[in-house]
Amino acid sequence: MKCLVLMIISFVHVGVCHLNCRGEVPRIRNCDKVCDENNICKIRAALLLPKNTSFDACLPAVSPVLDLAMEDPVIKNTFPPWLSVEWLKHDVADCDAAYAVISAIDAFNDCAHVFFGPACDFALASVARIAKFLGMNGTPMLTTGGFTFDFVKPKQTCEDEFYMLVRAGPLGFKDLAYFIIDLMRHFKWQQLLLINEPESQLHVAGKSTCHLMMKSFANFLKTEEIIYTPWDTTSDGGLNYTENLKFYLGYKYTNSNGGASQFYLIHMLIDQ
Ligand SMILES: *[C@@H]1O[C@H](CO)[C@@H](O)[C@H](O)[C@H]1NC(C)=O
Ligand SMILES: *[C@@H]1O[C@H](CO)[C@@H](O)[C@H](O)[C@H]1NC(C)=O
Repeated sequence: MKCLVLMIISFVHVGVCHLNCRGEVPRIRNCDKVCDENNICKIRAALLLPKNTSFDACLPAVSPVLDLAMEDPVIKNTFPPWLSVEWLKHDVADCDAAYAVISAIDAFNDCAHVFFGPACDFALASVARIAKFLGMNGTPMLTTGGFTFDFVKPKQTCEDEFYMLVRAGPLGFKDLAYFIIDLMRHFKWQQLLLINEPESQLHVAGKSTCHLMMKSFANFLKTEEIIYTPWDTTSDGGLNYTENLKFYLGYKYTNSNGGASQFYLIHMLIDQ
């Protein structure tokens, strides 16, 4: 946490005379400064999360934790005594991308120096694409979200899509993809069937969590040249799971009697 805080402070102080990501001399609003004319110094941190408790990272769950953390002596001692922190809480309704952007703009108008959240991937992507243009030299963002593989790409220059974003979460979909890939390599398996319900696990990363996970898996399976077949369970072709499983598995994943089972499948389909 110490480095995080120092990082935020240094973000806020970074070279005022440099050009910003639009190649312009930054226009500084009075409130962009951490210390006002009376020398009262305050970091304004905006928390951009949904109120809706259907999402793991929601205001009712996260803000008490942050309040507790701010009371902790370790955190208190990290900040210089002349600097206080004010939390601005914004409801990103239903973790939706449009609400996330408008909340970020509201927070920017309220002179936020740093954003915490959003945590849902689509909402996060929308805000993280513009954060580099907000404020003097961009507004830093911290999130535990950002699971999709796009978020693990480099973010160190203005040209990078998600410049100003810091992912503080422990795990992304890339890590899960490589867990599967390592397993495949270990057992010398050649191909796999990805069974996926695209709109499930909404509470983790919001809309299309599983779809985004599958997209990340597909990306890295391709890179590692592992053959995969995707099965989206919401397009069932009028067949039940048992039938679809037979259809998708076919003979491809069996060994000695593979041909026989494929023949059986065709036979069954003709029979119907
Ligand atoms: C919370 O979000 C879920 C999932 O999007 C939705 O079904 C539910 O209606 C929302 N609840 C409220 C109170 O908005
Ligand atoms: C799926 O459909 C087949 C063929 O119509 C039927 O025999 C089978 O009982 C069904 N399975 C389930 C789990 O409903």
